[in-house]
Amino acid sequence: MKKFLEIDKRLDSFKKVITVEGDKSLSIRWVLISSLSKKKSVAYNILKSEDVMSAVDCIKALGSKVRFLKNRCEVIGNGMSFNSKKKLILNAGNSGTLGRLILGLLVNSKNKIKLVGDKSLSKRDFSRVTQPLKKFGAKFNGRKVLPLEMKGTETPKAITYFEKKGSAQCKTSVMLAALKAEGLTTIKAKKSRDHSELMFKHLNIPIKVKKKNKVFDYIKIKGVKKINSLNYNIPGDISSCAFFIVLTLLSKNSQLLIKNININPTRIGIIKILKKMGGLVKFINKRSYKGEKISDIFVKSSKNLKGINCPVKYNSSAIDEFLVIFLVAAKSKGISFFKDLSELNQKESPRLVWSSKILTLMGVKNITTKNSIKIFGNPNLFLKKKIYIKNFSKDHRVFMMSVIAALTFGGKWKINDLDSIKTSFPKFLDILKKIKH
Ligand code: S3P
Repeated sequence: MKKFLEIDKRLDSFKKVITVEGDKSLSIRWVLISSLSKKKSVAYNILKSEDVMSAVDCIKALGSKVRFLKNRCEVIGNGMSFNSKKKLILNAGNSGTLGRLILGLLVNSKNKIKLVGDKSLSKRDFSRVTQPLKKFGAKFNGRKVLPLEMKGTETPKAITYFEKKGSAQCKTSVMLAALKAEGLTTIKAKKSRDHSELMFKHLNIPIKVKKKNKVFDYIKIKGVKKINSLNYNIPGDISSCAFFIVLTLLSKNSQLLIKNININPTRIGIIKILKKMGGLVKFINKRSYKGEKISDIFVKSSKNLKGINCPVKYNSSAIDEFLVIFLVAAKSKGISFFKDLSELNQKESPRLVWSSKILTLMGVKNITTKNSIKIFGNPNLFLKKKIYIKNFSKDHRVFMMSVIAALTFGGKWKINDLDSIKTSFPKFLDILKKIKH
Protein backbone atom coordinates (compact mmCIF):
# COMPACT_ATOMS: atom_id res chain seq x y z
CA MET A 1 0.00 0.00 0.00
CA LYS A 2 1.20 3.51 -0.87
CA LYS A 3 2.30 5.33 2.25
CA PHE A 4 1.39 8.81 1.04
CA LEU A 5 -1.40 10.48 -0.88
CA GLU A 6 -1.03 12.97 -3.73
CA ILE A 7 -3.86 15.35 -4.60
CA ASP A 8 -3.73 17.98 -7.35
CA LYS A 9 -7.39 18.61 -8.14
CA ARG A 10 -10.19 20.32 -6.28
CA LEU A 11 -13.48 18.56 -5.89
CA ASP A 12 -16.63 20.42 -6.95
CA SER A 13 -20.21 19.72 -7.99
CA PHE A 14 -21.21 16.58 -6.14
CA LYS A 15 -24.59 15.54 -4.82
CA LYS A 16 -24.42 12.40 -2.76
CA VAL A 17 -25.87 10.42 0.12
CA ILE A 18 -23.32 8.76 2.40
CA THR A 19 -22.95 7.07 5.77
CA VAL A 20 -19.82 7.12 7.91
CA GLU A 21 -18.51 4.45 10.27
CA GLY A 22 -19.70 3.94 13.87
CA ASP A 23 -18.89 6.47 16.59
CA LYS A 24 -15.46 5.89 18.15
CA SER A 25 -16.34 7.13 21.65
CA LEU A 26 -19.43 4.91 21.77
CA SER A 27 -17.59 1.90 20.29
CA ILE A 28 -14.78 2.02 22.86
CA ARG A 29 -17.23 2.57 25.72
CA TRP A 30 -19.40 -0.32 24.52
CA VAL A 31 -16.38 -2.67 24.44
CA LEU A 32 -15.17 -1.72 27.93
CA ILE A 33 -18.59 -1.63 29.61
CA SER A 34 -19.67 -4.94 28.00
CA SER A 35 -16.57 -6.56 29.46
CA LEU A 36 -18.06 -5.93 32.93
CA SER A 37 -21.14 -8.05 32.29
CA LYS A 38 -21.17 -11.83 32.42
CA LYS A 39 -24.06 -11.87 29.98
CA LYS A 40 -23.70 -11.60 26.21
CA SER A 41 -23.70 -8.02 24.83
CA VAL A 42 -24.19 -7.36 21.12
CA ALA A 43 -23.21 -4.26 19.10
CA TYR A 44 -24.17 -3.46 15.52
CA ASN A 45 -22.16 -1.01 13.40
CA ILE A 46 -19.24 -0.99 15.82
CA LEU A 47 -16.29 0.97 14.40
CA LYS A 48 -13.66 -1.51 13.21
CA SER A 49 -10.65 0.77 13.57
CA GLU A 50 -7.30 0.21 15.24
CA ASP A 51 -8.31 2.16 18.38
CA VAL A 52 -11.39 -0.01 18.88
CA MET A 53 -9.47 -3.20 18.08
CA SER A 54 -6.91 -2.22 20.74
CA ALA A 55 -9.83 -2.02 23.20
CA VAL A 56 -11.01 -5.47 22.08
CA ASP A 57 -7.50 -6.90 22.56
CA CYS A 58 -7.31 -5.38 26.05
CA ILE A 59 -10.60 -6.89 27.26
CA LYS A 60 -9.64 -10.25 25.74
CA ALA A 61 -6.38 -10.15 27.69
CA LEU A 62 -8.47 -9.49 30.81
CA GLY A 63 -10.60 -12.59 30.18
CA SER A 64 -13.57 -11.47 28.05
CA LYS A 65 -14.68 -13.46 25.04
CA VAL A 66 -15.19 -11.46 21.84
CA ARG A 67 -16.66 -12.61 18.54
CA PHE A 68 -17.01 -10.66 15.31
CA LEU A 69 -19.82 -11.93 13.10
CA LYS A 70 -20.86 -10.55 9.72
CA ASN A 71 -22.93 -7.63 11.00
CA ARG A 72 -22.25 -7.55 14.73
CA CYS A 73 -19.81 -7.94 17.56
CA GLU A 74 -20.52 -10.01 20.66
CA VAL A 75 -18.81 -9.75 24.04
CA ILE A 76 -19.18 -12.04 27.03
CA GLY A 77 -17.35 -10.36 29.86
CA ASN A 78 -16.12 -11.67 33.17
CA GLY A 79 -18.04 -9.46 35.56
CA MET A 80 -16.84 -6.70 37.84
CA SER A 81 -13.50 -8.31 38.71
CA PHE A 82 -11.02 -10.27 36.68
CA ASN A 83 -8.21 -12.67 37.19
CA SER A 84 -5.48 -11.25 35.04
CA LYS A 85 -2.31 -13.25 34.80
CA LYS A 86 0.79 -11.90 36.52
CA LYS A 87 2.87 -9.36 34.61
CA LEU A 88 0.09 -8.67 32.12
CA ILE A 89 0.93 -6.02 29.51
CA LEU A 90 -1.96 -4.13 27.92
CA ASN A 91 -1.41 -2.07 24.79
CA ALA A 92 -3.62 1.00 24.18
CA GLY A 93 -1.97 1.63 20.78
CA ASN A 94 -2.69 5.19 19.65
CA SER A 95 -5.82 5.70 21.76
CA GLY A 96 -5.90 8.22 24.60
CA THR A 97 -9.53 7.29 25.26
CA LEU A 98 -8.73 3.61 25.68
CA GLY A 99 -5.58 4.28 27.74
CA ARG A 100 -7.34 6.60 30.18
CA LEU A 101 -10.58 4.61 30.44
CA ILE A 102 -8.99 1.21 30.95
CA LEU A 103 -7.01 2.46 33.95
CA GLY A 104 -10.35 3.22 35.63
CA LEU A 105 -11.53 -0.29 34.86
CA LEU A 106 -8.34 -1.72 36.38
CA VAL A 107 -8.84 0.00 39.76
CA ASN A 108 -9.50 -3.39 41.38
CA SER A 109 -6.81 -5.43 39.60
CA LYS A 110 -5.14 -7.88 41.97
CA ASN A 111 -1.90 -8.13 40.02
CA LYS A 112 0.45 -5.56 38.60
CA ILE A 113 -0.49 -4.52 35.07
CA LYS A 114 1.68 -2.59 32.66
CA LEU A 115 0.01 -0.22 30.19
CA VAL A 116 1.92 0.65 27.04
CA GLY A 117 1.06 2.60 23.89
CA ASP A 118 2.55 3.76 20.60
CA LYS A 119 5.05 6.60 20.22
CA SER A 120 2.38 9.33 20.10
CA LEU A 121 0.40 8.01 23.09
CA SER A 122 3.62 7.61 25.09
CA LYS A 123 4.08 11.39 24.97
CA ARG A 124 0.64 12.15 26.42
CA ASP A 125 -0.16 13.01 30.02
CA PHE A 126 -1.58 10.21 32.15
CA SER A 127 -1.24 11.93 35.53
CA ARG A 128 -4.66 13.45 34.78
CA VAL A 129 -6.15 10.00 35.47
CA THR A 130 -3.61 8.40 37.81
CA GLN A 131 -4.18 11.21 40.35
CA PRO A 132 -7.89 10.53 40.93
CA LEU A 133 -7.41 6.76 40.62
CA LYS A 134 -4.83 6.86 43.44
CA LYS A 135 -7.55 8.30 45.66
CA PHE A 136 -9.58 5.10 45.08
CA GLY A 137 -6.57 3.16 46.42
CA ALA A 138 -4.79 2.15 43.19
CA LYS A 139 -0.98 2.32 43.07
CA PHE A 140 1.16 3.57 40.17
CA ASN A 141 4.88 3.58 39.51
CA GLY A 142 5.11 7.37 39.64
CA ARG A 143 5.38 8.06 35.92
CA LYS A 144 3.23 10.67 34.18
CA VAL A 145 3.48 9.00 30.79
CA LEU A 146 3.32 5.48 29.36
CA PRO A 147 4.59 2.89 29.97
CA LEU A 148 2.87 2.86 33.35
CA GLU A 149 2.68 0.15 35.95
CA MET A 150 -0.43 -0.09 38.03
CA LYS A 151 -1.67 -2.29 40.85
CA GLY A 152 -5.28 -1.96 41.89
CA THR A 153 -6.84 -2.49 45.26
CA GLU A 154 -9.32 -5.25 46.17
CA THR A 155 -11.29 -2.67 48.15
CA PRO A 156 -11.57 0.57 46.13
CA LYS A 157 -13.21 3.34 48.15
CA ALA A 158 -15.52 5.99 46.65
CA ILE A 159 -14.00 9.43 46.11
CA THR A 160 -14.89 13.06 45.53
CA TYR A 161 -13.41 14.36 42.28
CA PHE A 162 -13.31 17.72 40.53
CA GLU A 163 -12.68 17.45 36.77
CA LYS A 164 -11.60 20.91 35.58
CA LYS A 165 -10.41 20.37 31.99
CA GLY A 166 -13.69 19.39 30.33
CA SER A 167 -12.17 15.97 29.61
CA ALA A 168 -14.65 13.13 29.09
CA GLN A 169 -11.75 10.71 29.24
CA CYS A 170 -10.87 11.75 32.81
CA LYS A 171 -14.52 11.83 33.85
CA THR A 172 -15.23 8.38 32.40
CA SER A 173 -12.10 6.83 33.88
CA VAL A 174 -13.32 7.91 37.33
CA MET A 175 -16.87 6.78 36.55
CA LEU A 176 -15.66 3.28 35.65
CA ALA A 177 -13.62 3.07 38.84
CA ALA A 178 -16.64 4.33 40.81
CA LEU A 179 -18.64 1.33 39.59
CA LYS A 180 -16.24 -0.92 41.45
CA ALA A 181 -15.87 1.19 44.58
CA GLU A 182 -17.66 0.85 47.87
CA GLY A 183 -19.82 3.92 48.54
CA LEU A 184 -20.93 6.96 46.60
CA THR A 185 -18.48 8.69 44.25
CA THR A 186 -19.22 12.37 43.70
CA ILE A 187 -17.92 14.12 40.59
CA LYS A 188 -18.04 17.78 39.66
CA ALA A 189 -17.07 17.87 36.00
CA LYS A 190 -16.62 20.67 33.50
CA LYS A 191 -19.05 19.83 30.71
CA SER A 192 -17.85 17.24 28.20
CA ARG A 193 -19.35 14.43 26.15
CA ASP A 194 -21.80 12.45 28.27
CA HIS A 195 -22.02 9.08 26.49
CA SER A 196 -20.88 7.21 29.60
CA GLU A 197 -23.57 8.82 31.76
CA LEU A 198 -26.23 7.86 29.20
CA MET A 199 -24.97 4.27 28.93
CA PHE A 200 -24.89 3.95 32.73
CA LYS A 201 -28.47 5.24 32.94
CA HIS A 202 -29.59 2.84 30.22
CA LEU A 203 -28.05 -0.03 32.23
CA ASN A 204 -29.91 1.07 35.39
CA ILE A 205 -26.64 1.68 37.19
CA PRO A 206 -27.32 3.95 40.21
CA ILE A 207 -26.18 7.27 38.74
CA LYS A 208 -27.55 10.75 39.26
CA VAL A 209 -26.56 13.61 36.96
CA LYS A 210 -27.47 17.19 37.79
CA LYS A 211 -26.90 19.91 35.23
CA LYS A 212 -27.18 22.84 37.61
CA ASN A 213 -25.45 25.35 35.37
CA LYS A 214 -23.88 25.72 31.91
CA VAL A 215 -20.31 25.04 33.03
CA PHE A 216 -20.33 22.01 35.34
CA ASP A 217 -22.25 18.76 35.72
CA TYR A 218 -22.61 17.05 39.10
CA ILE A 219 -22.54 13.27 39.00
CA LYS A 220 -23.08 10.72 41.76
CA ILE A 221 -22.43 7.01 41.22
CA LYS A 222 -22.82 4.09 43.59
CA GLY A 223 -20.64 1.00 43.25
CA VAL A 224 -22.42 -2.11 41.96
CA LYS A 225 -21.85 -5.86 42.24
CA LYS A 226 -22.88 -6.67 38.67
CA ILE A 227 -24.15 -5.04 35.52
CA ASN A 228 -26.49 -6.13 32.78
CA SER A 229 -25.62 -6.85 29.17
CA LEU A 230 -25.50 -3.88 26.80
CA ASN A 231 -26.99 -4.26 23.34
CA TYR A 232 -26.27 -1.27 21.14
CA ASN A 233 -26.77 -0.09 17.59
CA ILE A 234 -23.90 2.37 17.20
CA PRO A 235 -24.73 5.48 15.14
CA GLY A 236 -22.27 7.23 12.80
CA ASP A 237 -19.47 9.40 14.21
CA ILE A 238 -19.93 13.18 13.90
CA SER A 239 -16.15 13.56 14.18
CA SER A 240 -15.73 11.52 10.98
CA CYS A 241 -18.70 13.26 9.40
CA ALA A 242 -17.03 16.64 10.08
CA PHE A 243 -14.49 16.16 7.26
CA PHE A 244 -17.27 15.74 4.69
CA ILE A 245 -19.37 18.56 6.11
CA VAL A 246 -16.47 20.95 5.60
CA LEU A 247 -15.61 19.45 2.20
CA THR A 248 -19.17 20.21 1.04
CA LEU A 249 -19.36 23.69 2.59
CA LEU A 250 -16.17 24.74 0.80
CA SER A 251 -16.85 23.05 -2.57
CA LYS A 252 -18.84 24.71 -5.38
CA ASN A 253 -22.36 23.51 -6.36
CA SER A 254 -22.39 20.61 -3.95
CA GLN A 255 -24.64 19.00 -1.44
CA LEU A 256 -24.41 15.98 0.82
CA LEU A 257 -26.79 14.00 2.99
CA ILE A 258 -25.04 12.05 5.74
CA LYS A 259 -27.27 9.47 7.34
CA ASN A 260 -27.65 8.23 10.90
CA ILE A 261 -25.22 10.41 12.87
CA ASN A 262 -24.94 10.75 16.64
CA ILE A 263 -25.85 14.37 17.41
CA ASN A 264 -25.55 14.24 21.18
CA PRO A 265 -25.68 17.92 22.29
CA THR A 266 -22.20 17.51 23.85
CA ARG A 267 -20.77 16.64 20.39
CA ILE A 268 -22.30 19.19 18.00
CA GLY A 269 -20.12 22.23 18.68
CA ILE A 270 -18.99 22.05 15.04
CA ILE A 271 -22.55 22.46 13.75
CA LYS A 272 -23.21 25.42 16.04
CA ILE A 273 -19.94 27.10 15.07
CA LEU A 274 -20.39 26.50 11.33
CA LYS A 275 -23.96 27.83 11.40
CA LYS A 276 -22.74 31.01 13.10
CA MET A 277 -20.15 31.34 10.32
CA GLY A 278 -22.88 31.13 7.68
CA GLY A 279 -22.56 27.41 6.88
CA LEU A 280 -25.64 25.81 5.32
CA VAL A 281 -26.03 22.72 7.45
CA LYS A 282 -29.08 21.25 9.12
CA PHE A 283 -30.41 18.21 10.93
CA ILE A 284 -33.12 16.16 9.24
CA ASN A 285 -35.19 13.38 10.79
CA LYS A 286 -34.07 13.74 14.43
CA ARG A 287 -34.73 10.79 16.72
CA SER A 288 -33.69 9.38 20.09
CA TYR A 289 -31.89 6.14 20.87
CA LYS A 290 -31.02 4.93 24.37
CA GLY A 291 -30.71 8.52 25.59
CA GLU A 292 -28.60 9.59 22.58
CA LYS A 293 -29.84 11.89 19.81
CA ILE A 294 -29.47 10.75 16.22
CA SER A 295 -30.13 12.55 12.95
CA ASP A 296 -29.30 12.79 9.26
CA ILE A 297 -27.23 15.84 8.38
CA PHE A 298 -27.81 17.86 5.21
CA VAL A 299 -25.10 20.24 4.04
CA LYS A 300 -24.73 22.56 1.04
CA SER A 301 -21.98 24.67 -0.55
CA SER A 302 -21.88 27.90 1.41
CA LYS A 303 -20.68 31.06 -0.32
CA ASN A 304 -21.13 33.72 2.33
CA LEU A 305 -18.96 32.43 5.15
CA LYS A 306 -17.87 34.93 7.77
CA GLY A 307 -15.26 34.84 10.54
CA ILE A 308 -16.16 34.04 14.13
CA ASN A 309 -15.00 35.05 17.58
CA CYS A 310 -15.66 31.53 18.82
CA PRO A 311 -17.34 31.34 22.25
CA VAL A 312 -15.32 29.07 24.58
CA LYS A 313 -18.51 27.29 25.59
CA TYR A 314 -18.22 25.33 22.32
CA ASN A 315 -14.64 24.16 22.94
CA SER A 316 -15.33 20.79 24.51
CA SER A 317 -18.16 19.87 22.15
CA ALA A 318 -16.00 20.62 19.08
CA ILE A 319 -12.62 19.51 20.44
CA ASP A 320 -11.92 16.91 17.72
CA GLU A 321 -13.29 19.06 14.92
CA PHE A 322 -11.29 22.30 15.26
CA LEU A 323 -8.77 21.28 12.60
CA VAL A 324 -11.45 21.42 9.89
CA ILE A 325 -13.25 24.37 11.48
CA PHE A 326 -9.97 26.29 11.00
CA LEU A 327 -10.15 25.51 7.25
CA VAL A 328 -13.58 27.13 7.14
CA ALA A 329 -12.14 30.16 8.96
CA ALA A 330 -9.40 30.35 6.32
CA LYS A 331 -12.03 30.66 3.57
CA SER A 332 -14.28 33.10 5.46
CA LYS A 333 -14.56 36.84 5.20
CA GLY A 334 -12.84 38.52 8.14
CA ILE A 335 -10.80 37.39 11.10
CA SER A 336 -11.66 34.38 13.27
CA PHE A 337 -10.44 33.90 16.82
CA PHE A 338 -10.43 30.67 18.84
CA LYS A 339 -9.18 30.74 22.44
CA ASP A 340 -8.67 28.62 25.61
CA LEU A 341 -7.65 25.72 23.42
CA SER A 342 -4.52 24.42 25.19
CA GLU A 343 -6.15 20.94 25.27
CA LEU A 344 -5.80 20.80 21.47
CA ASN A 345 -2.05 20.47 21.92
CA GLN A 346 -2.59 17.43 24.19
CA LYS A 347 -4.00 15.23 21.41
CA GLU A 348 -2.41 12.61 19.12
CA SER A 349 -0.16 15.45 17.92
CA PRO A 350 -0.02 19.08 19.11
CA ARG A 351 -2.96 20.03 16.91
CA LEU A 352 -2.90 23.79 17.45
CA VAL A 353 0.74 23.79 16.36
CA TRP A 354 -0.07 21.63 13.33
CA SER A 355 -3.06 23.74 12.32
CA SER A 356 -0.85 26.80 12.35
CA LYS A 357 1.87 25.03 10.32
CA ILE A 358 -0.56 23.84 7.65
CA LEU A 359 -2.35 27.20 7.39
CA THR A 360 1.02 28.92 7.04
CA LEU A 361 2.08 26.49 4.30
CA MET A 362 -1.20 27.37 2.55
CA GLY A 363 -0.37 31.08 2.80
CA VAL A 364 -3.10 31.78 5.37
CA LYS A 365 -1.98 34.41 7.86
CA ASN A 366 -2.49 33.22 11.42
CA ILE A 367 -1.28 34.26 14.85
CA THR A 368 -1.01 31.27 17.11
CA THR A 369 -0.15 31.05 20.81
CA LYS A 370 -0.06 28.11 23.22
CA ASN A 371 -3.83 28.21 23.59
CA SER A 372 -5.31 30.36 20.84
CA ILE A 373 -5.31 30.96 17.11
CA LYS A 374 -6.31 34.00 15.09
CA ILE A 375 -7.00 33.22 11.43
CA PHE A 376 -7.15 35.90 8.73
CA GLY A 377 -9.68 34.51 6.26
CA ASN A 378 -9.74 34.98 2.49
CA PRO A 379 -12.84 33.82 0.53
CA ASN A 380 -10.86 34.06 -2.73
CA LEU A 381 -7.96 31.88 -1.68
CA PHE A 382 -7.10 29.24 -4.29
CA LEU A 383 -3.71 27.58 -4.20
CA LYS A 384 -1.37 26.70 -7.02
CA LYS A 385 1.72 25.83 -5.01
CA LYS A 386 3.19 22.55 -3.84
CA ILE A 387 2.54 21.55 -0.24
CA TYR A 388 4.16 18.59 1.52
CA ILE A 389 2.73 17.45 4.87
CA LYS A 390 5.00 15.13 6.85
CA ASN A 391 6.22 14.27 10.37
CA PHE A 392 2.87 14.95 12.06
CA SER A 393 3.16 11.99 14.48
CA LYS A 394 0.81 10.02 12.19
CA ASP A 395 -2.12 11.97 13.63
CA HIS A 396 -5.18 10.65 11.74
CA ARG A 397 -7.06 13.93 12.00
CA VAL A 398 -4.10 15.99 10.71
CA PHE A 399 -3.95 13.65 7.70
CA MET A 400 -7.68 13.98 6.98
CA MET A 401 -7.67 17.76 7.51
CA SER A 402 -4.88 18.03 4.92
CA VAL A 403 -6.87 15.96 2.42
CA ILE A 404 -9.89 18.23 2.84
CA ALA A 405 -7.66 21.33 2.47
CA ALA A 406 -6.21 19.91 -0.77
CA LEU A 407 -9.64 19.10 -2.19
CA THR A 408 -11.10 22.52 -1.38
CA PHE A 409 -8.23 25.03 -1.76
CA GLY A 410 -6.37 23.38 -4.66
CA GLY A 411 -2.59 23.18 -5.12
CA LYS A 412 -0.37 20.13 -5.43
CA TRP A 413 -0.32 18.24 -2.17
CA LYS A 414 1.68 15.29 -0.96
CA ILE A 415 0.49 13.99 2.41
CA ASN A 416 2.44 11.32 4.24
CA ASP A 417 1.27 8.53 6.57
CA LEU A 418 -1.83 7.44 4.74
CA ASP A 419 -2.16 4.49 7.14
CA SER A 420 -2.98 6.89 9.98
CA ILE A 421 -6.69 6.84 9.01
CA LYS A 422 -6.90 3.27 10.29
CA THR A 423 -6.96 4.52 13.89
CA SER A 424 -10.36 6.24 13.63
CA PHE A 425 -11.79 6.15 10.11
CA PRO A 426 -10.51 3.32 7.90
CA LYS A 427 -13.14 3.95 5.19
CA PHE A 428 -12.32 7.68 4.83
CA LEU A 429 -10.77 7.36 1.38
CA ASP A 430 -13.38 4.86 0.13
CA ILE A 431 -16.14 7.32 1.04
CA LEU A 432 -14.25 10.12 -0.72
CA LYS A 433 -14.08 7.98 -3.85
CA LYS A 434 -17.83 7.49 -3.65
CA ILE A 435 -18.32 11.26 -3.41
CA LYS A 436 -16.02 11.86 -6.43
CA HIS A 437 -17.73 9.42 -8.80
C1 S3P B 1 -13.01 11.36 23.97
C2 S3P B 1 -12.81 12.54 24.62
C3 S3P B 1 -12.00 13.65 24.09
C4 S3P B 1 -11.72 13.48 22.60
C5 S3P B 1 -11.35 12.09 22.24
C6 S3P B 1 -12.46 11.12 22.62
C7 S3P B 1 -13.84 10.31 24.61
O1 S3P B 1 -10.77 13.70 24.78
O2 S3P B 1 -10.72 14.38 22.18
O3 S3P B 1 -11.11 11.96 20.84
O4 S3P B 1 -14.28 9.37 23.91
O5 S3P B 1 -14.07 10.41 25.82
P1 S3P B 1 -10.65 14.48 26.19
O6 S3P B 1 -11.66 13.90 27.07
O7 S3P B 1 -9.27 14.25 26.70
O8 S3P B 1 -10.90 15.92 25.85
